[in-house]
Amino acid sequence: MTNWPDRRILDLFGILHPILLAPMAGFGTPALAITVAEAGGLAALASATITPEQAGQDLASFRAATKKPVNLNFFCHQPPVADPAREAAWRARLAPYYRELGLDPAMPVAPSNREPFNDAFCAVVEAHRPEIVSFHFGLPERRLLDRVKATGARVIASATTVPEARRLEGEGCDAIIAQGAEAGGHRGMFLTSDISGQIGTFALVPQVVDAVGLPVIAAGGIADARGVVAALALGASAVQIGTAFLLSPEARIAPQHRRALETAEADETAITNVFTGRPARGVVNRLMRELGRFSSDAPQFPLAGGALAPLRAETEPVGSRDFMPLWSGQAARLARPMPAGELVRKLAAEALAKLG
Ligand SMILES: Cc1cc2nc3c(=O)[nH]c(=O)nc-3n(C[C@H](O)[C@H](O)[C@H](O)COP(=O)(O)O)c2cc1C
Repeated sequence: MTNWPDRRILDLFGILHPILLAPMAGFGTPALAITVAEAGGLAALASATITPEQAGQDLASFRAATKKPVNLNFFCHQPPVADPAREAAWRARLAPYYRELGLDPAMPVAPSNREPFNDAFCAVVEAHRPEIVSFHFGLPERRLLDRVKATGARVIASATTVPEARRLEGEGCDAIIAQGAEAGGHRGMFLTSDISGQIGTFALVPQVVDAVGLPVIAAGGIADARGVVAALALGASAVQIGTAFLLSPEARIAPQHRRALETAEADETAITNVFTGRPARGVVNRLMRELGRFSSDAPQFPLAGGALAPLRAETEPVGSRDFMPLWSGQAARLARPMPAGELVRKLAAEALAKLG
């Protein structure tokens, strides 16, 4: 038992410390989840870039290694509607890069593969019964949400504004993740597409705390114990951390992405839609600089990624980050690279010391 001032999330999830590993599709691994769980934080496994079968396998690996609870995470975007004119405009925008790399700008490309939460993913939840299920980009349709809740899972989801938090409470969530604009990766926004109205963690968390009766989890720009204590002072019951865990050896991250997070470049992050079609924060790179951070030509999420794939396949293996999304929050420079379990223990001990 530890002396955290607010036990609501600890008791709801059955964890020791109010420190949640952010689900990070493509970057998180079962090893990362297991080590966070064993250290007393909440583990997370992301499913947005994998098949239901792989999600089941990841959960099985987790269950084989630890009895601790886990959060299984899904995206809830609307499946994109094909728009040939926009696709053609996007390919025309990227054509100079294809030519620069000696590729045919008209070559066929595979569509980008991010499935929203659906019946097949729901069957994985029913089979493996993760203790917590989290959603990004809103919630799934009622019938799927009811099936998830019938498994006994606690349901949590990201809100980027007060109206989104109220909506999630009204739909029956058990806790709200208040995702401030500092956060790395995709914005969880679902009632608005106005990026200029996105709010920083410091202003968002207390307003969400005031607006809903549920425990609130602060996310975005938290990478050291000062951030943890500040979030708790603002009324959060726990924090969710992504970027700081990207530097742990258990994360799956390309060397050039890691270098970008560890160097001065991490000071320059921005929200962009050019990698996937949805706003997400990453370290500014060549594609963002040259196309502009927002392109009206970028096809609907996740289709923008399709035409980028050949450019990435050509350049990333030789260490280039020109076309690679370098997802990062604004606090990467505060992160200390260390094994994830050590990071959880250190953040908890330092935060508890500050709390007296
Ligand atoms: C590399 C990366 C991948 C992410 N992928 C997901 C995801 O798959 N699902 C999700 O709900 N959130 C995802 N996020 C957002 C996190 O849940 C969280 O909001 C964010 O990491 C918090 O801000 P921080 O990065 O400053 O700690 C991702 C964040 C990063 C940095």
